[in-house]
Amino acid sequence: MYLHKFLIIAVLMGASLANAQQSRFGAPATQEDIDKSFWTVFPDGEFLPDGEGNVAAGRELFEYNCTLCHNMPGENDPVKDEIGKLFGVDDKRGRTNLQQTIGSYWPYPTTVFDYIRRAMPLIAPMSLTNSDYYSLTAYLLYENGVIGEDEIMNKDTLPKVQMPNRDGFINAYPEVPEKYKAKD
Ligand code: HEC
Repeated sequence: MYLHKFLIIAVLMGASLANAQQSRFGAPATQEDIDKSFWTVFPDGEFLPDGEGNVAAGRELFEYNCTLCHNMPGENDPVKDEIGKLFGVDDKRGRTNLQQTIGSYWPYPTTVFDYIRRAMPLIAPMSLTNSDYYSLTAYLLYENGVIGEDEIMNKDTLPKVQMPNRDGFINAYPEVPEKYKAKD
């Protein structure tokens, strides 16, 4: 009886050890591990990947991958608007009841790329290529009146796009508070 239990525990421990070894649980992450899971793009465009996209390709990708939950420009399904209204420059910019869209609110074009790549489509984030995400970003910026229809978006052009609400934010922490400063 006891031997029986002991054997089960031994087998379970063996299995979890094998598992731990496989995932290298507890081992320090190598630079390769870190690179594999690092996909943050900074506001100034640092770490934007290679690839490029355009508005026409973005429109097709958007219709196919995004309209399950988001309205196309000009569509007014209230449920989809509630999920996330993506288009429209609101002339109430600067007021508290602003309809917050990419055109009326977002300060950085690079954040549009970073956000949709890490989070969208909601059911399969990061499932498209970097060029697809550049195209979707181009399409969203174009339909928000931010860029022209023929502009190509890539790691050089995207950071140069000036968002309408770029200066609508006040930096609450112009100085980094002492407690958050890096320690030597
Ligand atoms: C299954 C539903 C679903 C699909 C498909 C989807 N989204 Fe979303 N999206 C959401 C939800 C829900 C939110 C709000 C998330 C939140 O507020 O945390 C959102 C938010 C967003 C936002 C931020 C809106 C804002 O200003 O706050 C953007 C941009 C966006 N989605 C783009 C896309 C794009 C581009 C695609 C297609 C590649 C896509 N979404 C596909 C559900 C979806």
